[in-house]
Amino acid sequence: MDRRTFIHHGCFACAALMTTSLLNSCASAAPLAATMEGDDLVLAPGAFTAADGTQKSSVVVSNDSLKRPIAVFRDPSGSYHAVLMRCTHRGAELRLTGDRFDCPAHGSAFDAQGAVLKGPASSPLRVLPVREQDGRLRISLKA
Ligand code: FES
Repeated sequence: MDRRTFIHHGCFACAALMTTSLLNSCASAAPLAATMEGDDLVLAPGAFTAADGTQKSSVVVSNDSLKRPIAVFRDPSGSYHAVLMRCTHRGAELRLTGDRFDCPAHGSAFDAQGAVLKGPASSPLRVLPVREQDGRLRISLKA
């Protein structure tokens, strides 16, 4: 392979890699759409399965009837818990990075269980009960 061909192929490979990485990061950032059934937000089976078949430890879900998304975590024990992504300081939408929530408004931070790591927020996040039924996850918004 001559130098020109090597550079030409290398540029296409880099462009393809960067595009794939960008698309994957955008896909993981977008909340999954979940359906409402009564007072429950319902997640389809496979919500925790990534496009490449790996299992995620958390997903962010939303529905048009919600003002803020909900983060759902699969715990090491195999159980699930859900956290409303609404800051308890003044209600801003939180960002989830790994197992930590950060508030872009005034800098509060919370752990994956909703406990305050950093103020000005002083109250924990709202944790919602999750139960499995017929292979689907049901997050109760009534509790
Ligand atoms: S609204 Fe989140 S820290 Fe103020």
